[in-house]
Amino acid sequence: MQRGFTIWFTGLSCSGKTTISRRVADELRKRGLKVEVLDGDVVRTNLSKGLGFSKEDRDINIKRIGFVCKLLSRNGVVAIGAAISPYRAIRDYNRQEIGDFVEVYCKCPLEVCIERDVKGLYKKALAGEIPNYTGVSDPYEEPLNPEVVLETDKEAEKESIVKVIRKLEELRYVQPAEAASYSEEEEETIKKRLTDLGYL
Ligand code: ADX
Repeated sequence: MQRGFTIWFTGLSCSGKTTISRRVADELRKRGLKVEVLDGDVVRTNLSKGLGFSKEDRDINIKRIGFVCKLLSRNGVVAIGAAISPYRAIRDYNRQEIGDFVEVYCKCPLEVCIERDVKGLYKKALAGEIPNYTGVSDPYEEPLNPEVVLETDKEAEKESIVKVIRKLEELRYVQPAEAASYSEEEEETIKKRLTDLGYL
């Protein structure tokens, strides 16, 4: 059975968590792994429906996502959490609980996130229409020792994805692509076929 673990994406709203986490999930699925993504925006429509954005509610939300990631991870699934998760203590709590935990910090300057403003919420927050908005009127505590830092304002999307995958390979959570694609036996067969055909 595949080894389960959790990849935890943290960062400001519009820092690239959803985009990169989905692409990383696609890449891992291509490699034959079972993957589940728990995105804050989605979780807040079901499992965390009704929760707001006070520190207490955010902590409950992040603990819930962490709990599901833990259940999935221990059953051999790659669980991917993607939520602002602004408080270091709760991210570290999840790390302790889950154990096999790879933290990916989507680092992006607030100005760039505000420029992106995919859902137009920064505009509203800056106008004072949304209280406690992360980065505007609510804190974001940067990770101190994340396994991966993605600078999503400087790197191409592909670069960020490769960074995450490389780290997973380095940590032995996933096999390197080359090794994963052919077993030794398969390689022998291919080699023999190519030799028979006169290509080698
Ligand atoms: S978290 O703080 O609990 O981790 P989560 O990632 O689930 O947050 O949800 C963040 C999303 O909720 C943002 O992308 C944004 O669309 C929306 N949102 C609405 N109000 C706020 C707010 N006050 N602060 C941050 N995000 C908010």
